[in-house]
Amino acid sequence: MAASLTPALPMPSDNESLEEIESQALSDLGAVADGDALERWRVAYLGRRGRLTRVLRGLADLPLEERKRVGDKANRLKQELEGAVREKRARLAMSATEALIAERIDVTLPGPPLPSGRLHPTTQTLRDVLDCFVSMGFQVVEGPEIEWDRYNFEALRIPRDHPARDMWDTLWIDYEKDGERPMLLRTHTSPNQIRIMEQTQPPIRVVVPGKCYRYEATDPTHEWMMTQVEGLAVDEGISMADLKGTLAEFARRIFGPDRKVAFRCDYFPFVEPGMELRIDCFLCGGDGCRTCSRTGWIEILGAGMVHPEILEAVGYDSERYTGFAFGLGIERIAMLRHGIEDIRLFYANDLRFLSQF
Ligand code: PHE
Repeated sequence: MAASLTPALPMPSDNESLEEIESQALSDLGAVADGDALERWRVAYLGRRGRLTRVLRGLADLPLEERKRVGDKANRLKQELEGAVREKRARLAMSATEALIAERIDVTLPGPPLPSGRLHPTTQTLRDVLDCFVSMGFQVVEGPEIEWDRYNFEALRIPRDHPARDMWDTLWIDYEKDGERPMLLRTHTSPNQIRIMEQTQPPIRVVVPGKCYRYEATDPTHEWMMTQVEGLAVDEGISMADLKGTLAEFARRIFGPDRKVAFRCDYFPFVEPGMELRIDCFLCGGDGCRTCSRTGWIEILGAGMVHPEILEAVGYDSERYTGFAFGLGIERIAMLRHGIEDIRLFYANDLRFLSQF
């Protein structure tokens, strides 16, 4: 269009050429962003004192020939600019509508996913273990983490100054009574055997999950805090066969249906006989590997028949009632299940580790 308006004519009113007006009008229009600015633009070019209007008024002063030629071009420019205003107005109206659409919240759109937390690997394995025993008729109960010497040791046939205390490195509470420190962070969940039997009559079938604490120098297999599950069943006629059947079922549910179990003598002051439960190594199938220390077997818990002296001490008739007890470390089970090589990872709060489970 600009080309058709050349050569430009200097106008007597303001020395402006139609070409200059056109190119500036169009570039100004390009910068117009709202209705107010558009109106200011219209007044500036097409209003009564607008730049193009002044050119059209000035036509009267031109000689006839010139007037006809310039008038033609000026009128075409006027039409062009009026068309451009209409178009721009329509476009501004449209983008206002579009802005409204963009602002509207579409509640049906799925939101961006939030980073979700997850259960700690200890909690996952703990829940699986508890589910397993609950399905066999055990009830879940809990006891205190700060425990009396009497429950943690004495009533479990571990008297003061007895060498059996050396089996548990103990964190004592700084509280003295009668010249002694009778409170500690429980070293195992076994004190709950006594607590439960003191409060209940047989039949008893309970599992007791909870944190235990030991005065340990930590290494890949020892942590000063860990989670145990205690099991206790007391009733008439409970035998080693019940202990064996219950724990074999547990081992197969947690480590796979083909697991073989074996018992080996072990010593715990509160059971007689005492034993440890071993499963055949689920990694090498018994051939011997790193996980099973090349023995083909993995120890997973301590167990035994509740000592008759303990039954008598809580007021049960040990001729009538017998029972079994077991205690297992949840972190150890989780380490075996997931191939975790260092127990210290559990409570180091490193998300690179934790988010893998
Ligand atoms: N309380 C024992 C420990 O922490 C485990 C155990 C529980 C052994 C019950 C026998 C019976 O080592």
